[in-house]
Amino acid sequence: MRSLASSARSFLTPAPAARSFSLLALSSGLAAGYLPCAAEKAPSGQPLPLPLAPAKAMRAAIMLTNLKAQPADALLALIKLHNDDPRAGKIDLGVGVYRTGQGDTPVFGAIKAAEQRLLETQNSKAYLGPEGDMGFVHALMPYVFGTADPMTKEILGAGRIEGMQTPGGTGAVRLALALAKQAGVSRVFMGTPSWPNHAQIMNDLGLTLQGFAHNTTGGVVDMEALKDALAEAGPGDAVLLHGCCHNPTGIDYSPSQWDEIAPLLAKSGALPLLDLAYQGLGHGMEEDAYGVRRVLAEVPEAIVAYSCDKNFGLYRDRVGAVYVMMAEADQLAAVLSNGHALARAAWSMPPDHGAAAVRLILEDPKLVALWLDELDTMRERMRQVRAKLAAAGSAGKVDLTPMGGQNGLFSIVPLTGEQIMAMREKHGVYMAGSGRINVAGLTMGNIDQFIAAVADVTA
Ligand SMILES: Cc1ncc(COP(=O)(O)O)c(C=O)c1O
Repeated sequence: MRSLASSARSFLTPAPAARSFSLLALSSGLAAGYLPCAAEKAPSGQPLPLPLAPAKAMRAAIMLTNLKAQPADALLALIKLHNDDPRAGKIDLGVGVYRTGQGDTPVFGAIKAAEQRLLETQNSKAYLGPEGDMGFVHALMPYVFGTADPMTKEILGAGRIEGMQTPGGTGAVRLALALAKQAGVSRVFMGTPSWPNHAQIMNDLGLTLQGFAHNTTGGVVDMEALKDALAEAGPGDAVLLHGCCHNPTGIDYSPSQWDEIAPLLAKSGALPLLDLAYQGLGHGMEEDAYGVRRVLAEVPEAIVAYSCDKNFGLYRDRVGAVYVMMAEADQLAAVLSNGHALARAAWSMPPDHGAAAVRLILEDPKLVALWLDELDTMRERMRQVRAKLAAAGSAGKVDLTPMGGQNGLFSIVPLTGEQIMAMREKHGVYMAGSGRINVAGLTMGNIDQFIAAVADVTA
């Protein structure tokens, strides 16, 4: 068996390249459990002091016991519960991924074709910079901001928008909030409920979340709450809004509501942070971008966090981008250099593969047509499910009709904690503790079972 001292040395001895700073680091390094090699020499040629006694090194190395156990992510825990359920008729409405009518989450045909092309043509995997694949970032811009949309045409023409690639929409939201913080924002207004990770990221960054009601109990947007928030927000604040397909409610602002919101945002002087994670899954690629473009047309500066993980089905490949709009094009470089520095310190550079596949699709009109076709099919299926829910009218005490007009993957079923538990235990229907359901988890084969279960637990 190896002695404790020798095993500690093999872990803690720095690699040869790192040894040049060992003298400098000596006093603090010893306190932190750093053990120089007996044979190691200072640059002066003097031998370094002898290693610490193993007992002291052991004492210094137990910092990690200070960490308190954290609760598992509730949604990920739900996946496991669902997987462990032996019942044949169980229904998974938990995790937010698209599912076909057969319950699958397949790789897009357009992605498969692009990956094949990537395999054949990619001749290097050498590092890119912290900005990632700028070909991808730029190829996506016409879809997000339009090619000839009157709301954004001048902005694009003036070169007032630039972006960088991020690890998924989560990386984009993280970077958007970190940039806002770096620019002096300390408080972020956001409608609640929201995607739980928004609050977690704000908390992690030390930003204060100023919540307001996103929706009313009647299943529509709470415009009064938003207007009150915008009246209170000012310079030094940010306002985070979902671009479309609100997670978890599916309740979006209509174009005419965006028309009201955009000037109020501009008047407030707060920094808009627009999270567009589901473009194309609501009403269509153009329609779902209305809010983002409408806000950009009105304000001098904004940040857009974008995810390709849902609308290209790339979830685990982590594909996203963050875009910054400034009043003048020549202000962009300074802002993005902050983005690059933050990215370098966090993840260095984003994963390449998924974004490269998206770029290959966007560069080829045939693959674009295939991708948009697949997206249409997904959206159409979710519309059918929503129409069927709405047509059911009510299930027990729950009015399902508002779901027909909601968008994207999610809706909230207003159930109590006990009713959600009964859905799971009695009926094998797995949904988030917030009452959120993934509409795409419903099929023409299980939707009646779901409606009957809701009726039963609320009877
Ligand atoms: C509103 C919202 N923003 C961002 C994200 C992050 O997406 P990604 O999976 O690309 O990290 C999600 C994912 O669920 C989301 O719902």
